[in-house]
Amino acid sequence: MDASGQLKPSGEGSAAFEYTPRGVAGSAPDREVLTGATVAGDAAAQAQNHDKLKGWTQGLRRANAAATRGLSLKQMKQKKSWAPLAAFQAGSNPSVEAALEGEGFRALQAESVLDYDAGVFRLEQAVLEMISAAEPRARETGLSGLHEAFDPQWQRSKSFKPHRKKMNGPLYNSEHGASLRREFTKFICNFIAPHVREHTRCTRIYFQSTPSLRIQPPSNFRIGYPHTDSMYFHQRGQINFWVPLTKVYDTNTLWLESAPGRQDYHPLELDIGQCARFYGNQCTHFTLANDTQDTRVSLDLRVVPESCFDPDPPHSRGRDG
Ligand SMILES: [Fe+2]
Repeated sequence: MDASGQLKPSGEGSAAFEYTPRGVAGSAPDREVLTGATVAGDAAAQAQNHDKLKGWTQGLRRANAAATRGLSLKQMKQKKSWAPLAAFQAGSNPSVEAALEGEGFRALQAESVLDYDAGVFRLEQAVLEMISAAEPRARETGLSGLHEAFDPQWQRSKSFKPHRKKMNGPLYNSEHGASLRREFTKFICNFIAPHVREHTRCTRIYFQSTPSLRIQPPSNFRIGYPHTDSMYFHQRGQINFWVPLTKVYDTNTLWLESAPGRQDYHPLELDIGQCARFYGNQCTHFTLANDTQDTRVSLDLRVVPESCFDPDPPHSRGRDG
C-alpha cells in the first residue's frame, strides 16, 4: 500500500464518511507476477489443480517455520519459501489484538457478496474512460474486449504485460486516473466505510486510497501464486474488497477458500454491481489461467477498521515486500 487514507463520519447519524489523506506506515503492495502455470477447464485437470494447491498450501505452512526463524522476504524468496501468517503478527498491540478477536471484526472476516448501485458508483465507466484515453479502440470493445482493443491479433500464448503497463499507468498520473480515484473514494466513503461501521461501530477506517487495477485477458497464463496477503506483510486487521468491473465466472475470476486453512477453493461468480468481501489476509486466494473469451477487469482494495489498525505492525519495515 503506497498511499492510504483515513475516513471519519461526516456528521452524527450520517452514513457518509469524509476522506482525509494521510500517509500510513505499514503494509507493502502486493507483488503478483506472471508465471507459466496453466490449468485446463476439465474436471480431471481441476482435480489435479486442487492437489497442486494442497501442495502449495502445505508449502506455506512449512515456510511459516522459516518465518519464525526471522528470515526476510528476500531471503525467503531466495529459498523459494514463503511465510508470515500468525508468526509475524505475534507481539502486536494488545488493544489491537482484542479488537481482532472482537465480534465485529470476526463478522467482517466471513466471505460475503455485497450489492452496490453501479449507476451511483460509476467505477466501470471511470476505468473504461481512463483506458480509452490510452487506447481509443477500447470504447468499442468495452472492458471485456480489451485484449482485442490493444491487440487485434491477440493470442492466448502472448504476454499481456506491456499492455497492462499502458493501462495501469494513467491511474497514477493522468486526469482520467484522478477522476477514477475520485469515483473510488466516493465508493469507499459512501458504501464501504458505512458497511464496515455497521459491523465494527468504528468511527474511522484506514484504506488503500489508490485501488489495485487488475486486468487479465484470455490467456494460457495465470497471474500470481496462491497466497494470503499476510505473505506480503500486510497487517492482520485488513479486510479485502474485490470489485469486478466485468462479469466474472469459471476460470475468469478470483478463487479462494472460505476460511483460513479450509482449502474449499471456489470461484467468485459476480456481476457488475456486486463486490466480494473476504479475509484475504489469512484465506488463500488465487486466479487461474483465463480460459474464457473475455478479459477480466477488477479493482481490489483493503480496509482496516481503526480499532484493528496497528500503526507499527511487527515485521512491516525494512523488508522487501
Ligand atoms: Fe492478495
